[in-house]
Amino acid sequence: MRVDLVKAHIAANGSVAKDTYLMELRLETEEFLAAPGQFVMLRILDTTDPLLRRAFSICSLIKPNVIQIMYRVVGKGTRLMKDMKEEETLELLGPLGNGFQGPERGKKAVLVSGGIGVAPLFFLASRLKPHDLKFIAGYGSKEDVVPPGLLGLEEGSVLFATEDGSCGYHGLVTELFEAELNKTLSRQLQVYCCGPWEMLKKLAHICYEYDLDCQVSLESAMACGVGACQGCAVKASASYPPDYFHVCSHGPVFSSSDIDWEG
Ligand SMILES: Cc1cc2nc3c(=O)[nH]c(=O)nc-3n(C[C@H](O)[C@H](O)[C@H](O)COP(=O)(O)OP(=O)(O)OC[C@H]3O[C@@H](n4cnc5c(N)ncnc54)[C@H](O)[C@@H]3O)c2cc1C
Ligand code: FES
Repeated sequence: MRVDLVKAHIAANGSVAKDTYLMELRLETEEFLAAPGQFVMLRILDTTDPLLRRAFSICSLIKPNVIQIMYRVVGKGTRLMKDMKEEETLELLGPLGNGFQGPERGKKAVLVSGGIGVAPLFFLASRLKPHDLKFIAGYGSKEDVVPPGLLGLEEGSVLFATEDGSCGYHGLVTELFEAELNKTLSRQLQVYCCGPWEMLKKLAHICYEYDLDCQVSLESAMACGVGACQGCAVKASASYPPDYFHVCSHGPVFSSSDIDWEG
């Protein structure tokens, strides 16, 4: 797999929800061969603070050399990014990681996101036929909700859960997922999820109980992004040698049964 280190010129950068931004990047390469679930490492040029690159899932590939990333402002790097203007330049390393697998023929895809975990699942949804997928997105509140139409999905194609009940189901996305499971008789499902650790742990547990294949996209603090620094290790389940995975090079996508959720 080819990994590029290229200049990425900002083509657009704007707010799409509370503290959440969508950035379109035109890459100095003819073709960027990225698959859903893969990520890029971005470095802000002309500053040593932050010095290290930051990891972002690829949210969409809109032309062979134009991608979108969606980011939540949480610290120094993302605060600088939100104020960047068109034609400013970042340095990009990618595509990195393994990406999602499948779904197998005959299986319906169920996508479950929590917060900014929606970003890689938008990319996956864009590659699936609408009638072959169910997309369930969880947020804290209505103001956090990213409209699916912004990413080319039909409005109404995503079920929402909000913790304060201001949009869609009132409660956790894991509860809505389980309620939807109980509505369908089919167990020919492939579940894909991305979000906070506790949410993924709960989904892994539900999928184990319902005997469903579940792929999780993990986030962990990353320094190098390419398997060199060991900073992104997560504990593997007892059945799986080696003891630890590097999220950046073995993942970020794992079968939920390969992860030690207590580790
Ligand atoms: C494979 C992968 C894909 C990701 N995709 C996205 C994405 O699509 N959109 C998005 O907004 N973010 C994504 N992240 C998280 C993103 O990398 C961090 O939010 C970003 O590095 C924060 O940079 P900062 O300089 O703004 O914050 P910092 O100043 O570095 O940190 C601010 C706060 O955020 C916490 N933090 C930093 N990195 C992470 C992390 N990786 N996971 C959880 N908390 C973190 C720190 O502990 C600290 O509390 C992804 C991470 C990984 C590993
Ligand atoms: S971030 Fe360095 S090994 Fe994964």
